[in-house]
Amino acid sequence: MNEKPDFSKNANMATTAPAFLSVWDMHSYYGESYIVQGVSFNVHEGEILALLGRNGAGKTSTLRSIARVGEPDVRHGEIWLDHQPLHNMTSYEAAAAGLGLVPEDRRIIPGLTVEENLQLAQIAPPIGWSLERLYELFPRLGERRKQEGVTLSGGEQQMLSIARALARDIKVLLLDEPYEGLAPVIVDEIEKTLVHVKQQGMTTIIVEQNAVRALELADRAIILDTGSIVFDGTASEVLENSQLREEYLAI
Ligand SMILES: Nc1ncnc2c1ncn2[C@@H]1O[C@H](COP(=O)(O)OP(=O)(O)O)[C@@H](O)[C@H]1O
Ligand SMILES: [Mg+2]
Repeated sequence: MNEKPDFSKNANMATTAPAFLSVWDMHSYYGESYIVQGVSFNVHEGEILALLGRNGAGKTSTLRSIARVGEPDVRHGEIWLDHQPLHNMTSYEAAAAGLGLVPEDRRIIPGLTVEENLQLAQIAPPIGWSLERLYELFPRLGERRKQEGVTLSGGEQQMLSIARALARDIKVLLLDEPYEGLAPVIVDEIEKTLVHVKQQGMTTIIVEQNAVRALELADRAIILDTGSIVFDGTASEVLENSQLREEYLAI
């Protein structure tokens, strides 16, 4: 986990292929508050990674650091996506390079319909999933395409927020607590769509307080504690390790 991937042209790709998304020794601050304290991990193409840890562990800060959103300020470290360095990019450039952040507060744009929210994401090429394909994935959004986005239920707004990320041509989907505040039946529905999106080849990082649900979906998991990684392994290793679950996840 702590080995820096070799991106040099002479690397033997058959045995040392770099990860699709690679975060190396990332340190981030809010002003003088030192939050992300040397985080390194890899995500392979097509994989779902669960990023877990207690409230305040630094999960959102890690996602925001990767997405280059400004705060927190990444003062050290490298972030690579599909051979492109993201660590010197602005959030706009990182989005154009293929990062799709679905923030915790969903950010549906007021005054716009469902369809207009999606079309706005498709203004700048390259365009990702078509409206038709998105409505196939989320039939509820198709039925409500003319409805103002902010009048949707919480679950439907979450679907719209995910659909909006897919409407751009993204390489990695970063989900911050997508299940928060949603009824189990809606969580089931969103989980099914995330499985479908994975089957289409998408690479995903999911941050969730609902660790069990996230682990059901994920191939791998990392656990953060006070801004450092305390576990990196398979999802089933976490489910089978009661000490890890109790100490860091309270499950
Ligand atoms: N805008 C901010 N300014 C200062 N500190 C912050 C800010 N946002 C989060 N923090 C602090 O950073 C730490 C990690 O927060 P966060 O990444 O939101 O954790 P998580 O998503 O795991 O719950 C917490 O101690 C939190 O209080
Ligand atoms: Mg958070």
